[in-house]
Amino acid sequence: MAIDERFLDELNARCDIVDIVSRYVALKKSGSNYFGLCPFHNEKTASFSVAPDKQIFYCFGCGAGGGPIRFIMNIEGLEFQDAVRFLAKQYNMTVPETEGNPEERHRREHILQALKEAARFFYAQLHSPAGAQALAYFQGRRLSKKTMNNFGLGYAPDSFHALMDAMTAKGFSKEILEKAGLLARSPNGTYYDKFRNRVMFPIIDIRGDVIGFGGRVMDDSKPKYLNSPETQVFNKRRNLFAMNMAKRTKKEYFLLAEGYMDVIALHQAGFDSAVASLGTALTEEQARLLSRYTKTVIVCYDADTAGQTASQRAIDILKKAGLRVKILKIPGAKDPDEFIKTKGPDAFHKLIERSDNDIRYRIESVREKYDFTEDDQRILFLKEAAEIIAALETQVERDVYTTSTAKLAGVTPEAFAQEVRRAQLRQGKKARQQMHREVRAPIQAAQPKDRGIHFDNMKSARAEQGILALLFSDASLMEDMRRQLKPQDFSSPELGKMYGYASALYNTGRNITVAAMEPMLEPAELELLVAAIQTQIPADTRHKAMEDYIRVIQEQNVSANPADPGEDPLLRKAQLQRKSKGFDTGE
Ligand code: GTP
Ligand code: MN
Repeated sequence: MAIDERFLDELNARCDIVDIVSRYVALKKSGSNYFGLCPFHNEKTASFSVAPDKQIFYCFGCGAGGGPIRFIMNIEGLEFQDAVRFLAKQYNMTVPETEGNPEERHRREHILQALKEAARFFYAQLHSPAGAQALAYFQGRRLSKKTMNNFGLGYAPDSFHALMDAMTAKGFSKEILEKAGLLARSPNGTYYDKFRNRVMFPIIDIRGDVIGFGGRVMDDSKPKYLNSPETQVFNKRRNLFAMNMAKRTKKEYFLLAEGYMDVIALHQAGFDSAVASLGTALTEEQARLLSRYTKTVIVCYDADTAGQTASQRAIDILKKAGLRVKILKIPGAKDPDEFIKTKGPDAFHKLIERSDNDIRYRIESVREKYDFTEDDQRILFLKEAAEIIAALETQVERDVYTTSTAKLAGVTPEAFAQEVRRAQLRQGKKARQQMHREVRAPIQAAQPKDRGIHFDNMKSARAEQGILALLFSDASLMEDMRRQLKPQDFSSPELGKMYGYASALYNTGRNITVAAMEPMLEPAELELLVAAIQTQIPADTRHKAMEDYIRVIQEQNVSANPADPGEDPLLRKAQLQRKSKGFDTGE
């Protein structure tokens, strides 16, 4: 239908039917399938089944059946497209703008064709007499013919209509060319070529489609680079320059540079895993894209202050995406391109081998603040570095950096180790004080103010809130947690639902945040969530806290639903939950 099939595939691949259905129906596993009471007709015996291997649901009673989208359509009473949006939202996916009508999808294809054709035009211009100066420019920057071809580099002639004429002659309308970001329009409505007298860098996505261009002047005029605007096919936040090539690398690391020319020079020198963000700061989406292809990213931004500030930000974003980050400092040159040009690929390879992990980088950054010829400045440095090292997780790590930092400042490792220990004690004390405050806090467990939410089991509800608080401080606990704890185990359906959402967020590599959950929660639920996660649990006690909470929830779960031969505990619990919501008038 109207929604992009690639997108639907991806959505369906991410959806788990058991996950989705269990938000509405209490399911019980039997063999390889799950069973529960059909939400689509009235019944007393469970004839509603869910098959995870086929990703479908089916009711033997009323015959309702289908996949995740159909289930949402039925249970939420939504049309197909709205059900897709509903599911996409829960899995934090954005329905591409092409959704809607076939014309739009057709237009998207058309825009991609125009961009491909434009890339051909620019390429041909580079190798025509009009492109002599551009060709000389690239040659002057030491690019080989092969590199120019690999990257499809081109030249936009010094004209307001050269591209427009060539493209309209091929049948592309000016409207489409404008939508592709190739033409601009003056206030009086006249179309003209956006890129003029610039060397051109096509931007190609991981599927191999040209989605935009960067264009550089050949002198010192401004702006130095002109990039395609965001269009229906070009999303700067989601794409990286040269990702189409880098994704095929055999290297275990990716290189992240600042500029097009850096990336091209790196590839030419054999570093075929180099990419760059598109003239903007690195985004979380780009970091996630990288994390699909590699575990390690080496940041090699420009040596200037702006580049170093950008490195700090990139480190945080990359780490959040679960990547291992190394930083490469470029001595004696302003960027990787210049370094390779003056010192050669081998020297760059040595830099990679010596690239620092982010702890060393942080210590190095602190070091640059102080003048070591002054003793009191060296002491200040050591104190600050000790705080960084004291916060490291393992003794091995602390030892390694204690030794290297002591050496850096010219003191004995033993003396500096004492400083680190003192910092550790200070930090430990702070954490303990924090814990004391918080141990008291959860006892006054958050009570929803709203009349809509009641806790059947206060003891379990407290632990359930603790579980959420843990997840919001450290999402990686999810891995362990969900092996032992399912949303159905929660005594509070609302908290269970939030846990389910957190799990869905985690599955899709999203951060577990209030913002991410907000769209899925009722106002009262949101209040409850925000109250529950006020509790901060110190890092070193989190694992123990998790085990404790899980135990409480499971114990309470059993005592609330005593095993009764002949009665299914899950179904019974479903009835209990219904009762608590006032669906059942019995009792
Ligand atoms: P050169 O080596 O001078 O060709 O450029 P570079 O690739 O080293 O770029 P630089 O370090 O100056 O900038 C890094 C990146 O920022 C560039 O590749 C562009 O993507 C982007 N950029 C630089 N200048 C501009 C500009 O004037 N406008 C826009 N939109 N982006 C720019
Ligand atoms: Mn440069």
